[in-house]
Amino acid sequence: MKDMKWWQKTVVYQIYPKSFLDTTGSGQGDIPGVTKRLDYLKTLGVGAVWLTPVYPSPMVDNGYDIADYTAIDPSYGTMEDMEELIAEAKKRNIRIVMDLVYNHTSDKHKWFEESKSSRDNAKADWYIWRDARPDGSAPTNWRSIFGGSAWTWCEERQQYYLHTFAEAQPDLNWENPAVRQALYEAANFWLDKGVGGFRIDAIVYIKKPQEFLDGEPDGADGMVSIHSMIADTPGILDFLHEFRREVFDGHDIFTVAEANGVEPEELKDWVGEKGAFDMLFEFSHTNLEFPDGELWCHATGWKPELVKKLKEVLSASQQATAENGWYPIFFENHDQMRSVRHFFPDDSDPKITSKMLATVLFTLRGTPFLYEGQELGMDNVAWDTIEAYNDISSHGQYELALEEGMTPHEALKVIHRYSRDNARTPMQWTKGRQAGFTKGKPWLPVHDDYRNCCVESEALDETSPLLYYRKLARIREAGDAAGVLQQGDYTELLPENPDVYAFRRRFGCRQVVTLANFSRYEVIYDAKKIEGAELLVSSQEGSAKGVLRPYEAVCYLMENAKGGEEK
Ligand code: GLC
Repeated sequence: MKDMKWWQKTVVYQIYPKSFLDTTGSGQGDIPGVTKRLDYLKTLGVGAVWLTPVYPSPMVDNGYDIADYTAIDPSYGTMEDMEELIAEAKKRNIRIVMDLVYNHTSDKHKWFEESKSSRDNAKADWYIWRDARPDGSAPTNWRSIFGGSAWTWCEERQQYYLHTFAEAQPDLNWENPAVRQALYEAANFWLDKGVGGFRIDAIVYIKKPQEFLDGEPDGADGMVSIHSMIADTPGILDFLHEFRREVFDGHDIFTVAEANGVEPEELKDWVGEKGAFDMLFEFSHTNLEFPDGELWCHATGWKPELVKKLKEVLSASQQATAENGWYPIFFENHDQMRSVRHFFPDDSDPKITSKMLATVLFTLRGTPFLYEGQELGMDNVAWDTIEAYNDISSHGQYELALEEGMTPHEALKVIHRYSRDNARTPMQWTKGRQAGFTKGKPWLPVHDDYRNCCVESEALDETSPLLYYRKLARIREAGDAAGVLQQGDYTELLPENPDVYAFRRRFGCRQVVTLANFSRYEVIYDAKKIEGAELLVSSQEGSAKGVLRPYEAVCYLMENAKGGEEK
């Protein structure tokens, strides 16, 4: 194994700044709030913080609709606050990672305002404009990811523009070299400020097919998901290689791109020395409930049978990045429900399941990405009305569910499970008012259970998820197992077992075996296989070899058998 890079050995913590810590009483988190909690992050072994967008934005999609790539939204603070964050983080050996949202801008970005003003201005083809069909309707039947047509009519230009996401997020025209240069410049601006890397948003959509054709409808609205029509269009990698050359190469940073729809087998083209990025978020393990496209109302919900599939896809991603590239291990982000509900039945206890999943997160091969509140075992919410939800996609998906024939009650149940607001409720710091997140009125309600699930109470509870996460971070960082966990190879064990995800990491003379029971039942396994092994860590007190209690995970450390013989 070649020398490891700093970002392969660390933990990355994702912050949704709007929900992290409010220092002004506005009800919204801000950049000084992040700076204030850097020491807390250090206790989790964090070496990089990925900040979701903090740029000026009308906040139609909470900052993923950017109006200026090189400034800070006043609700988050100032450029000085950002510089201070970068500097304070650096003192603690933490780097700040920015989110680049380059498939689209806000419709309030000055580029779009110019582009839409006429058909012959200097930025006329910076976005994707098409004439109406003869009957005045949209150029194709594509449905945007948030629901509704992917085309919006513009009176000024008398043309439609394309938006993969919301109407307020027009897609940039990457075919135009001037657009690409402008985007590279913005990224270089942040490199000059000293950031440690980039997460690149929705990258699979930047290249569009040559011809815009209707697709076979996949819903009652007569439309087809735009994802199935444009994701991963051939030629996309040429753009991305250019992006790498013009921006990333030669810097001691990491890049991780969001690539929904890329399969584990395709990873080799995207990551590694010949790829465009260092790591890629592919979603094969978080999309298991969506075998028939992206409509939330068609999803299956979590079923114990999915454990087998989960094991398969996690193993496939591990194998795909074994030789080339590197895997960003994640179970949560700001678009997903909380993992304690995602992969477990409704009646399971987050305090228990969160620790089990944490064990997998910290012992797979790759860089663990931790999302704010995951370390506490934060849970989903379920609000009474659709109006209570802020997330734009929840509203779109609710409408789609009604169109598909669901009752409002049924549609709301779908939103309860899949709403992105599940991940966006305020971080739970204390048992006090508003969980210590704000002195004002929080922009989204604090979860009801915050007194039981917050940093203040968990820091004093030996059995809490928080202390367990800290322990795992220490084990991964230093000590007998650290080399194995950081660098060791990966082999799946017990692939046929429907309940237990088991794998071995091996490096030098040692190996670590992880056994994680995803079921509500006790599982017995053959303890001979781990004879002589030392218990490295277990998610529940008092583990016994040969038995896994419901939702228990254990890790054993052992010397390799002599002569390379495998046990
Ligand atoms: C990505 C982001 C998501 C956002 C979308 C549009 O999927 O993670 O939050 O809504 O892109 O930018």
